[in-house]
Amino acid sequence: MKHFVSMKHLTAGELLQLVQLATDIQVQGVSGYREQLFAANLFFEPSTRTKMSFTVAERKLGLEVLDFAAEASSVTKGETVYDTAKTLQSIGASVLVIRHPEEHTAARLAERLDIPVINAGDGKGEHPTQCLLDLMTIYQEYGRFEGLKIVIAGDIRHSRVARSNAMALRKLGAQVFAAGKPEWMDETLGIPVLSMDDAVEQCDVMMLLRIQFERHETKEEEAGYLEQYGLTKAREQRMQQHAIIMHPAPVNRGIEIDDSLVEAPRSRIFRQMENGVAARMAVIITLLEGWGIKHGYNLNKRE
Ligand code: CP
Repeated sequence: MKHFVSMKHLTAGELLQLVQLATDIQVQGVSGYREQLFAANLFFEPSTRTKMSFTVAERKLGLEVLDFAAEASSVTKGETVYDTAKTLQSIGASVLVIRHPEEHTAARLAERLDIPVINAGDGKGEHPTQCLLDLMTIYQEYGRFEGLKIVIAGDIRHSRVARSNAMALRKLGAQVFAAGKPEWMDETLGIPVLSMDDAVEQCDVMMLLRIQFERHETKEEEAGYLEQYGLTKAREQRMQQHAIIMHPAPVNRGIEIDDSLVEAPRSRIFRQMENGVAARMAVIITLLEGWGIKHGYNLNKRE
């Protein structure tokens, strides 16, 4: 694997291998690279979880982190994203992580750079490492994907998490549904729509999404959203006993989910964040391996 920019290009086997590697890393730990390697984290959009967990993942693997702040860089003088990325490659970055508001930015860089590129979120496009940590969380819970009913609920049209997860979960044999405000459904995902009331009763996983206000053209009204489309306490009580709640975060407490449910016993929201570190370590190890930089961790033994 040379780059990690979309779930589109990955087979079910590759996804399972990454989930397994991330799980092994989390359980067994893994040593750092012996040689000096640099990771460049280019975030052109705000981030807490993705940026910080990439930093922890890279440092755990012994990589030195080249931190980048767009507002303090030569981007402010008109330098393009490509020239910025090429510069970081030229000065020694071994892997490049990028979040950008424009769709396909990471994919375009991947076509032109000679180092692995990881998409840390591209506008409304995809968020593949979030997807991997979500897969890891579901697998830890159920030990399988086949036959699980998973609903992605909320602002699907503006969500890169929804796009990556819908693609990956279907490849892995899960039944994926959408729920939420009709105008935020996205038929391009090809998943059937359920009402929230049916979803809570039928699904093994309730994957909630934040309203992506920053990607809306008009200001949305929040009043009444929780009651109409969110996970209220009353709906949570109708979930099956084993069913879990997920959310990529940041959470708008009291809007898409009742405040008290964020840390409820069936919530896996903070587990998802914890899993983000091992998931990102697994991606970095796999990609560097794809470019001939061996970690010494025998990936083949899982085949
Ligand atoms: N889930 C997620 O991408 O969070 P951040 O925007 O804080 O990175």
